Amino acid sequence: MIKKYLYGTPIETGAVIADISPCSDSLTLLSESRDKEKRLCFSCSLDDNDIVYGLGEAPRGINKRGHIYESFNSDDPYHTEEKRSLYGSHNFLIISGNKSFGIFIDCGAAITFDIGYTETDKLNICCSADDLVLYIIEGENSYDIVRQFRKIIGKSYIAPKWAFGFQQSRWSYYTADDVRKVAQKYRENEIPLDAIYLDIDYMEGYKDFTVSNERFPEFKSFVREMKDMGIRLVPIIDAGVKIEDGYDIYEEGKEKGYFCKRKDGTDFAAGVWPGRTHFPDFLNPDARKWFGSKYKVLLDYGIEGFWNDMNEPAMFYTDEGVREAVDYLKSFDFSSNDPNKFFELGGRLSGLNNRRKDYAAIYHNIDGKQVNHEKVHNLYGYNMTKAAAEAFEELSPDKRVLLFSRSSYIGMHRFGGIWTGDNQSWWSHILLNIKMMPSLNMCGFLYSGADLGGFGTNCTRDLLLRWLAFGIFTPLMRDHSAFGTRPQECYNMGDTKAFKGIISLRYRLIPYLYSEYMKACLNDDMMIRPLGFEFPDDEMARRTEDQLFIGESIMVSPIYEQNAAGRYVYLPEDMRLVIFKDAKTERTELLSKGIHYINAGLEEVPVFIRKNKLLPLCEPAQCTDKSDSSRLELLSYSDEPASYVLYEDDGISRSTDSAHYTTLTK
Ligand code: GLC
Repeated sequence: MIKKYLYGTPIETGAVIADISPCSDSLTLLSESRDKEKRLCFSCSLDDNDIVYGLGEAPRGINKRGHIYESFNSDDPYHTEEKRSLYGSHNFLIISGNKSFGIFIDCGAAITFDIGYTETDKLNICCSADDLVLYIIEGENSYDIVRQFRKIIGKSYIAPKWAFGFQQSRWSYYTADDVRKVAQKYRENEIPLDAIYLDIDYMEGYKDFTVSNERFPEFKSFVREMKDMGIRLVPIIDAGVKIEDGYDIYEEGKEKGYFCKRKDGTDFAAGVWPGRTHFPDFLNPDARKWFGSKYKVLLDYGIEGFWNDMNEPAMFYTDEGVREAVDYLKSFDFSSNDPNKFFELGGRLSGLNNRRKDYAAIYHNIDGKQVNHEKVHNLYGYNMTKAAAEAFEELSPDKRVLLFSRSSYIGMHRFGGIWTGDNQSWWSHILLNIKMMPSLNMCGFLYSGADLGGFGTNCTRDLLLRWLAFGIFTPLMRDHSAFGTRPQECYNMGDTKAFKGIISLRYRLIPYLYSEYMKACLNDDMMIRPLGFEFPDDEMARRTEDQLFIGESIMVSPIYEQNAAGRYVYLPEDMRLVIFKDAKTERTELLSKGIHYINAGLEEVPVFIRKNKLLPLCEPAQCTDKSDSSRLELLSYSDEPASYVLYEDDGISRSTDSAHYTTLTK
């Protein structure tokens, strides 16, 4: 049962597409109040045993209890525990305990979620805007609440099947030859690969929708050359448009008034990769249509996928901010003996980026009304991705286009996937990746994944292997790393055999993963689930945060600790352990419900097969185009009869006309 409560006159976010009439009943599960800052707040008490699921892309655990979070899309590459915000705002949470209910706050402004932080037994949500829609969802259990929620927010975006192949990225492969080398090395080492990413340096001066002719000559034939090797190129598109006379996108946007404004109506400017840029006003439907149409340039080159970036939007500086810092410096009292003054000086200089003050200076044109950015901040990246997706419906009416974004809001899941931004090559970030995936699934972001191996800092062979051994289960499986870090391609990490084995296993799993993904997309379901969703009455399962169900047949228990020879695993039911090595079954064992220590070397991947379920596996291939799922090996828990309904389609058409279901039995 879903109840909708309307507060003020909210700006339409497009998150909920079901037609639900507002209810006039008074709130029962939450109480309403105002805090010291006069913000509208909703609160309830938490029982000792309550788990709080949700918030999608947020730091910390699957159970969000014990911390304070803020929905305010932020470009922050240090995803450490004390952080409150990351790139997306997903205001959906579930209190799971004696009473179970879901809360969704539909509002593009900043919201804080104090989940037992200030008072351990209290949930307190405070909104920086009074205009919002609150949804309360009651259900049998958490899984049921998610399913009801997903029904009202619409179907998840469907990625092409090739996007289930392994993908290699780096900031940056600077030239076509750099890309060719990556492709050759993967093929030479027989490590499967389906895509190579083009980071900002493929562009001419970081200008969106341009390709450097010098570094990527004959781009169209280069795209073809890679495709002939079974490799798609995926270019990045940044939100900011470079301010440069003669640059058509800039000139057009300026002339048509499509950029975000300052209060006085002048175009707002901030520094990003190209230097000073303007931000397209994605909240304005005309500007959105205009920007979306520009992707055609790249589609015409044969490009089939994009990643939208810097769309929180990220700002390195504004002229206003720099001026304030310079004035501060000029008036700095060097004779001061107060160390705090010197710390403040450092803060002033390092705090030029993503200032709240700068965001507050931005204005949008929504249906002819001037709307301050603070009210819609969390909707910006969503609408950039919507711009692209809506354009693709016209530009590529038959074929799916791969699309994912860094910044997001619920509703964007209908238009694209997400990647979880600039993580680090830290062991703790494998764990964060594990914990985030089910929370993202709850909000409909099914095509998602992290930068495997970690984006910032230097990766090591063991870290990459362990991370890939989890990444093979996430729909987006991409190795990406930052400028200045140690090369992170599999062939740059010592002996390639183990990499070949793990990534080949991914290709063996694609029929199953794609089938589970598609079924979740089509049925508003979760492909990746916490144990507590399947076993709500099993306290141990409810408290397990580092194991996940992937689809209906398997559970995984990734290893995320340096030098670990294995790990303890909790089985909420009897299961068959299969240890894969070189993409083949190395050893297998029936295990009973309970706790077990599982040994697994760096080149091994443990998978647990559930009772009465089947895991179909195809032969490995070098790329998805070459993959053949006509002959499948079926792994099962035991010799007891089991069946699995395999979903298949042509993997590329937007229509599901080619879809068919085959019942596999053993
Ligand atoms: C941002 C993105 C990262 C990209 C870099 C350069 O930090 O999150 O993935 O490599 O910008 O474009």
